Amino acid sequence: MTLVALGAADGRDAWVVESDDGRRFAVFAVGDGPGAGGLRVTDAVCPHNQGPLEQGWLREGRAVVCPWHWYRFDLDTGECTTAPQHRLGTYPVVEHGGEWFADVGEPPPEMSWSQRLRALARPEDGR
Ligand code: FES
Repeated sequence: MTLVALGAADGRDAWVVESDDGRRFAVFAVGDGPGAGGLRVTDAVCPHNQGPLEQGWLREGRAVVCPWHWYRFDLDTGECTTAPQHRLGTYPVVEHGGEWFADVGEPPPEMSWSQRLRALARPEDGR
């Protein structure tokens, strides 16, 4: 388990936090559910083409629309309703010592350059 402190919204509805291992996550204040005022945490960049999701638009408090090509993602499930082959990483929000954190799991294992190139050439889902 890796916990990343989410901080306070301070009037923002989205911002980015970073784990000690350098991964970045978008935090959305949606106003209901678990977390300080209803926080949702996702990967910071869009799985379509790396758009900055914290700059996107919140819809009905449960979806974000990417600002680059307007793909829409469910903040609870990560499903993309625009192009289902894309899925956004979502992470649970937990309270610890009176503060809110995202449980972002363990960092992915290091890959060699050849493994990275193969992963880019043949994504895991075979598409
Ligand atoms: S980069 Fe997000 S929809 Fe294209």
